[in-house]
Amino acid sequence: MTPNYETRGNVAVITLNNPPVNGLGYATRVALAEGLAAAQLDPAVKAIVITGAGKAFSGGADINEFGSPKASAEPNLLTVILALESSSKPTIAAVHSVCMGGGLELALGCNYRVAAPGALVALPEVKIGLLPGAGGTQRLPRVLGVENALNMIVSGAPVKSEALAKIPGQKLFDRIVEGDLMQGALAFAAEVADKRPLPLVRNLRADHPNPDAYFQFARNTVGAMSRNFPAPLKCVDAVAASVSRRFDDGLRHERELFAGLMFTPESKALRHTFMAERATNKIPDIPADTPLRTISSVAVIGAGTMGGGIAMNFLNAGIPVTVLETSQAALDKGIGVVRKNYEAQVTKGKLTPDKLDKRMTLLRTTLDYADLKDADLVIEAVFEEMGVKETVFRKLDAVMKPGAILASNTSTLDLNRIAAFTKRPQDVIGLHFFSPANVMRLLEVVRGEKTAKDVLASVMALGKTIKKTCVVSGVCDGFIGNRMIEQYSRQAGFLLEEGCTPAQVDQALERFGMAMGPFRMGDLAGNDIGWAIRKRRYVERPDVRYSKTADLLCEMGRYGQKTGAGWYDYKPGKRDAIASPVVVEMIEKHRAAKGITPRKIGDEEIVHRLVFALVNEGAKIVEEGIALRASDIDIVYLTGYGFPAHRGGPMCYADSVGLYNVVAAMQRFAQNPLDDVGFWKPAPLLARLAAERKSFT
Ligand code: NAI
Repeated sequence: MTPNYETRGNVAVITLNNPPVNGLGYATRVALAEGLAAAQLDPAVKAIVITGAGKAFSGGADINEFGSPKASAEPNLLTVILALESSSKPTIAAVHSVCMGGGLELALGCNYRVAAPGALVALPEVKIGLLPGAGGTQRLPRVLGVENALNMIVSGAPVKSEALAKIPGQKLFDRIVEGDLMQGALAFAAEVADKRPLPLVRNLRADHPNPDAYFQFARNTVGAMSRNFPAPLKCVDAVAASVSRRFDDGLRHERELFAGLMFTPESKALRHTFMAERATNKIPDIPADTPLRTISSVAVIGAGTMGGGIAMNFLNAGIPVTVLETSQAALDKGIGVVRKNYEAQVTKGKLTPDKLDKRMTLLRTTLDYADLKDADLVIEAVFEEMGVKETVFRKLDAVMKPGAILASNTSTLDLNRIAAFTKRPQDVIGLHFFSPANVMRLLEVVRGEKTAKDVLASVMALGKTIKKTCVVSGVCDGFIGNRMIEQYSRQAGFLLEEGCTPAQVDQALERFGMAMGPFRMGDLAGNDIGWAIRKRRYVERPDVRYSKTADLLCEMGRYGQKTGAGWYDYKPGKRDAIASPVVVEMIEKHRAAKGITPRKIGDEEIVHRLVFALVNEGAKIVEEGIALRASDIDIVYLTGYGFPAHRGGPMCYADSVGLYNVVAAMQRFAQNPLDDVGFWKPAPLLARLAAERKSFT
């Protein structure tokens, strides 16, 4: 007998028990199958209740088994569901908290389902590029109706049990149990113990009054919304089969579609991302049970572009914030922007006026450092100048209470030097938010040489509270994201010199799936930022060559959208990039001056030169220990730089191309006589992995 099997009167209760969410891994399936078999053999048992221990009924497949032979080892989920359907005694799923994916498919194999209110019910497989592969696409339409089921399967979004129970004619839930779920399930079991025949979802019909027109409509809508992803359309095909085919044929069709998706690069990329996001929180030398510092109040220094947005993150989470500036005027301006941002959300119906007021009352302002002394965390977001940072950190060191965390939002400066301005470098950390800081999910958490472990752990936990995706970075110029983007931008500049126009480069990258090509991105962020960085580099690193085109552009005063002109022209108040003849002429003149004969460059070369530039720098970043793992780099690019989700990030993309192919392409690029800077020397880690026919992941 398994420990998860017990009898309560004449009811057998089988409890899934695989924390944290009762994933249906091999051992759990074995326990379930054994429990079912035992219940069949015990003459005293009249009914069987299946439920989940702890925080879930079941979250579905065990992600730790993904891709391993264990995932499909017998008893697999399909055969467990068959065993449920063959039970001679009524089976009742007692659903609570979380019932997703395989968990829902399991429940649908039971004769009856009772649920606690508030349970989140979903078939989320589409989010990892798959479709439900254990009958979900065939059974859910039979209990919820075709349209409701298709919406859930194509979106993957969770719906609350009580909302589903209200759908007219639904057969998903036989009862919503208020109060104690197990008591309710046992009472229900007593009611149905002797009822025969046993109802099975497979015996119901999935009907639609006008299936052809409906599924045509569904294909058009879903196809338009999921351009780079094959799974949503396959979900439509599978659900259509629930109407047009007999149950077992539909099940077989679902299986074929599932198997086909399993090997698509898109699903591989999404599964990689799913695992990679979870990995970002694991820091090898910091145990999960590290005691955390309490952070219940925050101070922000500087109310400019970043300071205001940073403050909003905490206000949104109900954490009070005090903002300090150098003048009342700067405070008023900064706070005005915060209010305007919230008001825009109210106008769009995304925030109630009541909540706006609540958030604004959590926001205080000051010109006096003494008012910050009790804050648990202070984040500095003043001008990007070491001298200014020094003044600020010396003042903070003087006033902040012991144990307070001192953070800097610097994007390029040496955090170790900033920490050294204080007598408590162990309490100093980098919190590199991305602009707009209230919108962008990415937060690079910069671990200084002396940053204490509990400071890092506390900040990682805080990141979750404010709904950021945190990635740990070591200290280096540009940290992970910006250090890599510099190489990407350099290649983009070289492409202009060799024959491309900005629009041609942008379009190639956008066809690849980037949210924005490098030149449109430059115009949005402000070309003057890169200009300032290059001016510093020309002094510090004269060996690093950049195309002069970007400097020439800035010398023309074309900083981007904020000046109404950059790589492109802009109409007043509009963001549409219009190809600029002036810029094209500037590039042509520059080429002529350098004696370069332009050549036609294809999309593949454009994309690979830019993306492999990221990959090569990424490999250095991993090898130097700046990033903890290659997949962290993917998360940085997916959440902060608009890298296409269906490619899984630059490192995952390189793996999908094959690292030996990446190195071969780099060797071809190195033959280019215009590459006079040795740009394409493969990073040692990349060269080694390619030679060993290995991958980053
Ligand atoms: P900003 O120029 O918009 O704002 C800086 C604010 O700091 C101004 O309001 C200024 O009055 C205030 N300030 C200057 N000296 C001060 C002092 N001694 N005490 C108090 N307040 C002072 O600059 P932005 O763009 O907000 O950048 C701030 C920091 O964030 C910089 O370190 C920057 O590198 C970093 N950062 C900027 C990003 C961006 O996209 N703008 C992205 C990520 C980081």
